[in-house]
Formats: sequence, structure tokens, C-alpha cells
Amino acid sequence: MSAPNKSYDPVEVEALKPEEIERMRDEALAAIAAAPDLDALTHVKTAHAGGASPLALANREIGALPPQAKAEAGKRVGQARGAVNQAFAARQTELEAERDARVLVEEAVDVTLPYDRVPSGARHPLTTLSERIEDVFTAMGYEVAEGPEVEAEWFNFDALNFPPDHPARETQDTFFVKGPDGGDQSGVVLRTHTSPVQVRAMLERELPVYVIAPGRVYRSDELDATHTPVFAQVELLAVDEGLTMADLKGTLDHMVVSLFGEGMTTRLRPNHFPFTEPSAEMDMVCYVCRGDSVGNPDRPCRTCSSEGWIELGGCGMVNPKVLTACGIDPQKYSGFAFGFGIERMLMFRHSVEDMRDIVEGDVRFTLPFGMEI
Ligand code: DAH
Repeated sequence: MSAPNKSYDPVEVEALKPEEIERMRDEALAAIAAAPDLDALTHVKTAHAGGASPLALANREIGALPPQAKAEAGKRVGQARGAVNQAFAARQTELEAERDARVLVEEAVDVTLPYDRVPSGARHPLTTLSERIEDVFTAMGYEVAEGPEVEAEWFNFDALNFPPDHPARETQDTFFVKGPDGGDQSGVVLRTHTSPVQVRAMLERELPVYVIAPGRVYRSDELDATHTPVFAQVELLAVDEGLTMADLKGTLDHMVVSLFGEGMTTRLRPNHFPFTEPSAEMDMVCYVCRGDSVGNPDRPCRTCSSEGWIELGGCGMVNPKVLTACGIDPQKYSGFAFGFGIERMLMFRHSVEDMRDIVEGDVRFTLPFGMEI
């Protein structure tokens, strides 16, 4: 590196000449004064006070001056930069005040205007949750299927392999529709589950069948904190060649991950339903404690009663007898199905403690759910 140039005179260095420094300062001051708003001022700051501004570059030249010349040049540049910074701060305060005054006028609210006296409601969370479940399955290619709520006993029970003496066919469980003669033998019931939609889907559609069927169902229960005579279920049915229990399990796992988040899984426990063989009860990992509360008395979980699992509903492989009743060859096709109550899912998904809140239709309950759940 070459030694400092002893004869280096600031007056001779173009960038450090007094009139040059003055010119830079005046240019900066003019630009600051002319900045119409805060955005423009930010650009002016970069151009005239930033690291690459003429004054900053001039400042760097000082280092190369002989010691006796440094002080004077430093003072001159320092004063100019000080003036620019002061002007900048003053203009910024001015522009901020202007902006605040403008916002106050532009965003003024006339509090004397009459308010909307008809409060708008919200969609019921049962509807939005049910649509959310539909979305999970339509994204996989399933179609939404429907069936009537006033259903033939044949669809609700017989085609689903319920024996004639099955307890579900008793009046303490099922609402029977009276016949024209006033008798109970009309053969028509309020459907007790969405499973009859399985039968309708198999009879009405071409194979393979992949349907999801949400809907209202009825049982002769009293309304209390955990029961309601009218509730909602979602039914799923897949009938194709080569479907196995593994497909059912994978589908269930996908559903709980989509609805409750990564890391969720399901487990199956043996059970019995007339229309599936084998049949299972399906549980999902407790989405609150994720199993951490099990055997851990210090961290009890109210959602799953520290069991680590929450019961969701029933599932299984479609009973070959049901396939046969729907004209499908069980040698060639197999299917899986599941069904669960949406109120229950809503209850544990949103810590709703009383079933009556869901069914009573009070907007004070629905409003906090808004449009999205
Ligand atoms: N329909 C049954 C009920 O209401 C639930 C159910 C169980 C649906 C097993 C299914 C299934 O599709 O495979 O209790």
C-alpha cells in the first residue's frame, strides 16, 4: 500500500472542495424539502444520506488526507451531513403529521349513523364441519350421495342384514311412520342411520362406487346433554375390486390427519354390525393430549378421560350379504364402509359440552364459529 500523500490538500481534492460540499448539502436539502410523502423521503434519504451518497463518499476521502488537513475537511463534511440529517428528521416529522391528519379524516367513522338492527347470523358449525368432511373425500374422488330421511324399512334394516328381531327395530329405538290406516305396519321409518344410503348408492350407481353421505338421522332418544333424537351422521362407502381392510384403515387415517392435523392416527377394535363383516369400532388418537395423558396422572386430559383415544364411530368391510342384496357379486367386488356422528366430532373438536347447545339453534352459539371452523 502506498504511503499517505503528505501534499494531499483538501481544497485540491475535488470532492472535498468547500463549494462542492455546499453543493451536495444544498442538493440534499432541496430534495428533502421537495419529498411529497414518506415513501419519497425514504428514497431521498438513501440517495443523499445513505452509505453511497455523495457526502458519505466525500467523508471517506478524508481518511486519505494528511493529519493537518483532516480536521478542517472533517468539520466541513460533518456540518453538511448534520444539516442534512436534521432537515431529514424535521421533514419526516412534518410528513408523519400530515399523514396522521389525513388518516383521521379518511377513516373517520360516523358514530351517529343508525346501526344494522337485523343482526346477521352464521352458518351452523354442523353444516360447515360436514362440508369440510365432504371436501376431504371429494378431493379423493368420492361423490356426495343422498337418501331420504323418511326411509323404507327395507333400506334402513333388511338390505343391511338386520335380522327381523333385531332390537334396533323396536319402537324405543326407532320412529315408525304410521300407515294410512293409522297402524304401525307402514314399512316406513325415520332413518336411524345414514347406512341406507349405502344400499341406495349401490343400487343406483355403476361400479366402482365411492360415495360420502352426510345427513340427518332420527332415534327415539330424549334430548339431554349427550343425546338428541335428531342428529347428523356421515357415511362412507367404497366398493371396488380388491379393496381390503388396509384401504379402510388408510382412508380413516387420511381423514383424521385432514381434519385434525399431522400425526393423527386411528385404531380399530373388534365390534359387530350386521352390515359389515368384519366390523370394528374406530378410535382416533386424542387430538388434545395425543396420548400423553395415559399413565400420567400429573397431566390428565378431559377430552379423552386420559385414555389417549377418542371413539369416532363404526366401520368394517361391507358384508357380502349386503353386496348380494344390492345385486353385486361378492366374489368379484369387496367394499369398506364407515359411519359416525357429526355432533360428537363437533363436541370434542370444539369442547362443546352440552348437545343441547348444538341443536337449539341459538345464534349466540353459532356466531363464534363464524364462517370457518
Ligand atoms: N350405522 C352405524 C350406526 O349408526 C354406524 C356404522 C357402523 C356405519 C359401521 C358404517 C359401518 O358404515 O360400516 O351406529
